[in-house]
Amino acid sequence: MTKLWGGRFTKTAEAWVDEFGASIGFDQQLVEEDIEGSLAHVTMLEKSGILANEEVEQIKKGLHILLEKAKKGELNYSVANEDIHLNIEKLLIDEIGPVGGKLHTGRSRNDQVATDMHLYLRKQTKEILQLVKNVQAALVEQAKQHVETLIPGYTHLQRAQPISFAHHLLAYFWMLERDYGRYEDSLKRLNVSPLGAGALAGTTFPIDREYTAELLGFDGIYENSLDAVSDRDFIVEFLSASSLLMTHLSRLCEELILWSSQEFQFVEMDDAFATGSSIMPQKKNPDMAELIRGKTGRVYGSLFSLLTVLKGLPLAYNKDMQEDKEGMFDAVKTVKGSLAIFAGMIQTMKVKEETMTKAVHQDFSNATELADYLATKGMPFREAHEVVGKLVLLCIEKGIYLLDLPLSDYKAASDLFDEDIYDVLQPKTVVARRTSAGGTGFTEVKKAITKAEKILAN
Ligand code: ARG
Repeated sequence: MTKLWGGRFTKTAEAWVDEFGASIGFDQQLVEEDIEGSLAHVTMLEKSGILANEEVEQIKKGLHILLEKAKKGELNYSVANEDIHLNIEKLLIDEIGPVGGKLHTGRSRNDQVATDMHLYLRKQTKEILQLVKNVQAALVEQAKQHVETLIPGYTHLQRAQPISFAHHLLAYFWMLERDYGRYEDSLKRLNVSPLGAGALAGTTFPIDREYTAELLGFDGIYENSLDAVSDRDFIVEFLSASSLLMTHLSRLCEELILWSSQEFQFVEMDDAFATGSSIMPQKKNPDMAELIRGKTGRVYGSLFSLLTVLKGLPLAYNKDMQEDKEGMFDAVKTVKGSLAIFAGMIQTMKVKEETMTKAVHQDFSNATELADYLATKGMPFREAHEVVGKLVLLCIEKGIYLLDLPLSDYKAASDLFDEDIYDVLQPKTVVARRTSAGGTGFTEVKKAITKAEKILAN
């Protein structure tokens, strides 16, 4: 088959070579953006007097026919036409005749593909922003139900201090809020038009780049034509924001998986987000959480793969850059899927308050309280730490917890101890008294919920 660029060639590549070089297998996902970009381009060609009105009308009509067919999945792409750009051009010529060949006036596939990618990622980023918000909303909803539900807070995965379960969930709200900010911020640099940069150097045609930028909803144009066709920073930024988002999801997944275990029994995933075993009838596996944790790796992979593709590339366009696409498509699919599943998982999970409450009553996570108690009464904190450490050891020997230790033992350790320590040691008191800003105290958590709801309402 002769190529659209076949003029200076005397023979054609074999099919398997075409296959290797082609991107149509994956860049057909850009079909709508490609046609949208072409429509803006021809509109500008007419306005600038480069093409005649009748020609542009025919081209637009043809492009609209192709767009309708594309939406119905009725376009027949061919590997011989390499990529989405050449396929659409060829299909247009088939549809409306040789005048279709005028579409590419004053344009190159290099500025075309860059334009398509900007349009695609802008749309996807906006959808992802909404999905992030949905997860945040699910976290806040659960948090509202569990302000006074206590769980052990951990450091080193050892029980540290009791906290409000809502406080724990809200930690993820704020991580996602930063993710949201990163995606939103990336849109500023992404929403710039490369169209009209031509192959690398601009064009001799009197085109109007500002006009196509405006038609396509861009905030402005790339200042430098070489940069316009070579820049893939916007994809790197997207993959980087996505990597960090996936890190956050993955961390909560890990916790959900731990909490679902027999050892913790803090939560139970809804049946809709768990699976059974083909051999062990008792099993209920938190598969979706595991899968999101696992899928995090492929998003990191796409980020590294693109950075590596770009690092040694001379200006301007190089075919290497075709390798920017599959990772991006895969990351978009992975992030969107993970966020959607995640929101559902959080909304429907069963929180086992009894096990959580039991847990905070059967540990030494109130020990800091005792040390603070002594310190408040004037004992240097370091000394208080030592005294309480000894009391913990005594409890361990006796097989009891601090609340079970008789006052006589406390008095023997320090005469600063009084009856009121039994109140101070209650997990609920422990949590309630952490009233410092951003702490787990119930009043602080309620304030945080109000703040989070305000952010979501904006
Ligand atoms: N399929 C190509 C890509 O994805 C489109 C740009 C091709 N440009 C070129 N000069 N070969 O990068």
